[in-house]
Amino acid sequence: MRVLIVYGTSEGQTRKIAGAMATALTRLGHEAHGIDVADGTAASRLAGVGAVIVAASIHIGRYQRAVIRFVREHREPIAARPNLFVSVSLAAAGTDPTDRAGIAACAAKFGVETGWRPDEIVHVAGAFRFSRYGFFKRLLMRRIARRKRVAIDPHGDTELTDWAALRQATEAFAARAAAATRRAAGPGLPAAAPAAGATATGGAASGPEAA
Ligand SMILES: Cc1cc2nc3c(=O)[nH]c(=O)nc-3n(C[C@H](O)[C@H](O)[C@H](O)COP(=O)(O)O)c2cc1C
Repeated sequence: MRVLIVYGTSEGQTRKIAGAMATALTRLGHEAHGIDVADGTAASRLAGVGAVIVAASIHIGRYQRAVIRFVREHREPIAARPNLFVSVSLAAAGTDPTDRAGIAACAAKFGVETGWRPDEIVHVAGAFRFSRYGFFKRLLMRRIARRKRVAIDPHGDTELTDWAALRQATEAFAARAAAATRRAAGPGLPAAAPAAGATATGGAASGPEAA
């Protein structure tokens, strides 16, 4: 099965998450590509894929504008295939009910803005990336880290992403998408074979590999 992972990112963590998902899918024998929505080629890659994952991160309660635009313009081909929305945030790292309600509301608003009702929404914890922040973001994020009592490296990056849980969610999605594809193909037809020469793109790094 060919899987397109379209993502938006502001500081790079969602790219890494998309890369880890592509790697997990490739290990299962699928062909997976992570494409940054900002590079403008995602729409042309929709044709011919068997499943779609959209990933975006929350900044002040909103996802990347380019992702909202992409999904709004292409919601029909996305919805016609097994699909998944991956919402990346810091609130997803904790269990605070107010924070959890906040990110659920962000995802619901995304649904209203795009007109897309994902088959499934997965909330994934992101990262503090002080290496990428300017002066004001640094102040804001230090304050949030203090308030949430997260130990951070004030000059480097602190990942809260649970790579093992992400891999499990990716594997569950692959199983669901493959079953849906088999059902759509009808009885008596062989299961879709894994793509030959499967490749992963998207920049998985040492963290997810080690998970
Ligand atoms: C300016 C700023 C605003 C943010 N706002 C939120 C927020 O409203 N809720 C939240 O849970 N996380 C928030 N975050 C955390 C990001 O979602 C998190 O750092 C994520 O890993 C960013 O992913 P990206 O590197 O792919 O953009 C914010 C981060 C920054 C830098």
